[in-house]
Amino acid sequence: MKHYTSIHDIDDINSWIEEAKTLKKNPLKFKKLGKHKTLGLLFFNSSLRTRLSTQKAALNLGMDPIVMNVSGDAWGIEFGDGTVMNGNTAEHIKEAAAVVSQYCDIIAVRAFPTLTDKVKDESEQVLTAFKKYASVPVVNMESATGHPLQALTDAITISENTTKAKPKVVLSWAPHVKALPHAVANSFVQAMQKMDVDFVITNPEGYNLSPNIVGNTPVNHNQEDAFKDADFVYVKNWSSYEDYGKVKNTDPNWMITKDKLGAAKFMHCLPVRRNVIVEDAVLDSDSSLVIEQANNRTYAAQLVLKKILENG
Ligand code: CP
Repeated sequence: MKHYTSIHDIDDINSWIEEAKTLKKNPLKFKKLGKHKTLGLLFFNSSLRTRLSTQKAALNLGMDPIVMNVSGDAWGIEFGDGTVMNGNTAEHIKEAAAVVSQYCDIIAVRAFPTLTDKVKDESEQVLTAFKKYASVPVVNMESATGHPLQALTDAITISENTTKAKPKVVLSWAPHVKALPHAVANSFVQAMQKMDVDFVITNPEGYNLSPNIVGNTPVNHNQEDAFKDADFVYVKNWSSYEDYGKVKNTDPNWMITKDKLGAAKFMHCLPVRRNVIVEDAVLDSDSSLVIEQANNRTYAAQLVLKKILENG
């Protein structure tokens, strides 16, 4: 594997999950694999889990991680081809990606969508440019349309916690005050489509994800109906895709409560707004897997880095 930028870079999700579980039992086993190798982590946007867990993963493999907050600390990067750079951007991605490749053996990038320009967001401008102009492998730490490190984490967490050969997994939209990206939901859908699970999405009218992502996965606009017999309820807000980037619904009746959850396990990628997305009683109960998910971020990232290092 050269790059990890999409869930489709996983050839066999079940074998990846098993390998991640093995890695988790002995995280320092491959400490020599990354010796004298540098991981560059470039953040165009905020992060807690991704920033720390990906560094931890690199350290577990003996790599040296270096981190940069690109938006705050670097020169403004130009992505347009042939642009007369007499505006606010001072450095072209052609040079920037090539230069970072001189210092790093793998480059990991986080760059969120505009949520105002669907065409630009779906072109994955930043990630695509890094893949094109970097001379080293690129890892997606959440891009405009995908968060494949999170989705691999979630697949591992479901596999660890299921008591059934084919559990029922529900992805539920929940309300939020701000317009949020589709990336986590998109990659989660794609991961579940690769797993042997009974999978359904529930969201209000006007909040269907991209048809290219949903494919044949059933969408139920009745949350209560969708939750029947659920083993895992994965919760996430996303802004409207149809009316791109708009917040059209903040109905608190879509918030996750202990009553609604029943016997199912609660999952969320974090950060989560308490008593907006989900009530305290869920997060503070044994039904919540959110901390296990956060822990598994390290092993998902470590597996991805290991595979890239082994390929190099
Ligand atoms: N889940 C996740 O990606 O968290 P951060 O935004 O804090 O990295």
